[in-house]
Amino acid sequence: MGNKIWFLTGNLGKVKEAQLHLHKLGYEVEQLVIDEDISEPQAEDLHSVAEAKITQALPHLPNKEDMLLVEDAGLFIEPLNGFPGVYSAYALKTIGCNGILKLLSHLESQDPVMNGQLRGAEFQAVAALWNGQEIIFGEGKCPGWISKEINGEDGFGFDPLFVPFDLDGLGNPLTAGNYGETSTHGATFGAVGLEEKQLFSHRMRALNDLISQL
Ligand code: IMP
Repeated sequence: MGNKIWFLTGNLGKVKEAQLHLHKLGYEVEQLVIDEDISEPQAEDLHSVAEAKITQALPHLPNKEDMLLVEDAGLFIEPLNGFPGVYSAYALKTIGCNGILKLLSHLESQDPVMNGQLRGAEFQAVAALWNGQEIIFGEGKCPGWISKEINGEDGFGFDPLFVPFDLDGLGNPLTAGNYGETSTHGATFGAVGLEEKQLFSHRMRALNDLISQL
């Protein structure tokens, strides 16, 4: 097996994040675009979606010596019982960030700590990698809360409305209202740079989980 990973995704934001992270670990990451439509099953969990995408994409792997990566993520909002979760892409396309804010508008407080409790949410990611022999999975989570307004132009998807909880000295997430060594100080993922998002990101955690199994 070489050190090249083809990342099947139409999302350049995800490719940039994976490249920035995996280059440091000695892997070359390239976006894999397939003309044929890869169907995303509307499954109940992120694992099934990721596995279905890998199986469909494997015949299109440009070089059998290379690895194939897919990743599936979603935003799970506590007061909405986990919605949009596996329906995140659809929710972004239809109601968008503004629609999510409207659904939570009855849960606003002047106190940011209180908002962190009332408007709790979590990004979850599952990364699946074909390593030449089998599919291995990595998981990552990033707990935080939904801001009161859209903020920031960086990133993609729901980044402008998600504020991650602080991290302790070991890089582990804390809970609402606790100050840690690493903090966006209330800024959303859309308002911090990519390098900073990586410290918190569900995607980075899922990729680390994968790479630790190679
Ligand atoms: P996907 O199916 O993994 O591409 O992601 C589902 C939806 O969640 C997409 O609409 C993404 O824009 C959104 N999403 C996934 N990861 C992130 C993230 O890191 N930040 C913001 N939105 C995300």
